[in-house]
Amino acid sequence: MTRTIYVLNGPNLNLLGKRQPEIYGHDTLEDVAAACAKVAAEFGLTSQLHQSNHEGQIVDLIHEAREKAVGIIINPAAFTHTSVAILDALHTFEGPVLEVHISNVHKRESFRHHSYVSLRAEGVIAGFGVEGYALAMRRMGTLLAVKPT
Ligand code: DQA
Repeated sequence: MTRTIYVLNGPNLNLLGKRQPEIYGHDTLEDVAAACAKVAAEFGLTSQLHQSNHEGQIVDLIHEAREKAVGIIINPAAFTHTSVAILDALHTFEGPVLEVHISNVHKRESFRHHSYVSLRAEGVIAGFGVEGYALAMRRMGTLLAVKPT
């Protein structure tokens, strides 16, 4: 059975490519989905990208991942800095969790310097633009010990 990685995205990331392109770039979430699928395939994995503007829906997706996914890559967007509910949901997931931020959150306002999700994530990528997702997928392959083709 093909093993699936959930790529979860939080609020406002549906506007990726249109929203503050000087910070987040011009690529869209569809571009991210394609890049993740390509790298996942190299490792014999599949990737499924989801986005929600609603905290509870992200919690539900993490619960769904418990049954359907072997790893989670998550950019919780603004919920990174506020959501104990998402952290708690991630604690119910048994596989690897990688956190991605498109921008370098450490170069920005101080409220972006703290991440609840980092308390659970095996690794964090920030400031690599949307390329960070593909890098995280590559790392996921390593963590799940699958050899690239
Ligand atoms: C973000 C950084 C967050 O601080 C911000 O709220 C986002 C996107 C990033 O990808 O750089 O919406 O997670």
